[in-house]
Amino acid sequence: MIIKEVNLETVCGYTSKLPDNQKPEIAFAGKSNVGKSSLINALMNRKSLARTSAQPGKTQTINFYNINDVMYLVDLPGYGYAKVAESEKKKWGQMIENYLHNSKQLRAVFLLIDIRHAPSANDKMMYDWIVYQGYEPIIIATKMDKLKRSQISKHVKLVREGLGLKKESIVIPFSATSKQGREEIWNLMDSILES
Ligand code: GTP
Ligand code: MG
Repeated sequence: MIIKEVNLETVCGYTSKLPDNQKPEIAFAGKSNVGKSSLINALMNRKSLARTSAQPGKTQTINFYNINDVMYLVDLPGYGYAKVAESEKKKWGQMIENYLHNSKQLRAVFLLIDIRHAPSANDKMMYDWIVYQGYEPIIIATKMDKLKRSQISKHVKLVREGLGLKKESIVIPFSATSKQGREEIWNLMDSILES
């Protein structure tokens, strides 16, 4: 897709009603600091429309980016950030569950996992939620630039094993720094939007 126009159209907090969007949505989930906002910026060819931060817990709302008036990229709040109060964590969980359950336009959910580490219990739980809501998560293994080329396939295998993925499940290694994997993700999103 050629990106002509993007804008942050809706920001949903814990108490906000979800927007009644009329165009397909693709959502990005993953633990805090895994690179969701960076991936969305890379996909949109924007440096900083989605606010990123070295501090985990940057995105605490559900942010809907309107792309060319044909689709939305949805930046979900990150989970698993230890320094956040239990009550806050619960709210985030409820927000994400509510969105996955109630969005009428959601077509696919990408789950981001840091390629350097085996998936955590929270990652596994998120994976199971997505499956439970009827979606087949597409895994993006982020920050591939932090590994040597020779280590990548071994780490992809760790991610697959950690989540208990089926053979046919897709894992795409990605780097927001080098943009490796960007084409593949767009090709997949284009095919999702066409189907
Ligand atoms: P929350 O909003 O807290 O849930 O985090 P997030 O998942 O949106 O992460 P964000 O995109 O803000 O990135 C977190 C940090 O990781 C930032 O310092 C980014 O610059 C860095 N980062 C993200 N993706 C990559 C990547 O592919 N490679 C490298 N080297 N750093 C990355
Ligand atoms: Mg973010």
